[in-house]
Amino acid sequence: MITAEPAAELTATETMPRRTPTRRPAPGQPARLVLTGFMGSGKTTIGRLLADRLGWAFTDLDTEIERRCGLTVPQIFAQLGEAHFRRQESAALASVLGHPRTVIALGGGAPEDLGNRLLLEQTPATAVVYLAAPFATLLDRCLQQPNAIERPVLADRQKAEQRFNSRQRIYQRIAAHTLETSSMSPEQTVEALLHQLFPKSA
Ligand code: S3P
Repeated sequence: MITAEPAAELTATETMPRRTPTRRPAPGQPARLVLTGFMGSGKTTIGRLLADRLGWAFTDLDTEIERRCGLTVPQIFAQLGEAHFRRQESAALASVLGHPRTVIALGGGAPEDLGNRLLLEQTPATAVVYLAAPFATLLDRCLQQPNAIERPVLADRQKAEQRFNSRQRIYQRIAAHTLETSSMSPEQTVEALLHQLFPKSA
């Protein structure tokens, strides 16, 4: 059985002071929230807001990979190749899943790997949330961001759309909750998620 490695390092987990006291999950409630979805789905923005509301830590998987490699994601793709990036992604995921009371924003491609999916499935008290939106909306959002041209997976639009199409059912399959985000602000999405995930206390 694949299990999450106990976390040795906390560096990539943000430890900013929280406005809210840490919410200790009740039995049956998740102790870890994992946000998945394609690029531009708002995983990082929503993850940070959600962690802040829960008084939990926030970890962005891409940032953790960059910290481990000492290179940016585009540099890893360009200098070491996508396969190397994916290996680092799996190692980083195993490490960050060791932390309780954490919101984790996955990279858009992380759930394509079977080992990563098993790890998510087998880590106790872990709820995966899929932030869904149509490809055109996601592309628009990405192109509005300052680092748009640097995103390796966006370099070839046609291939990006193919990746989006093939990943959609994977995101749906691993997620306990799916939220269609195209008509919601990040704040509204967080409210909706809190109601879904912690119905009594949101
Ligand atoms: C990727 C998405 C990126 C990053 C890398 C590969 C993908 O993360 O992990 O560029 O394969 O879709 P975001 O989804 O956070 O942009």
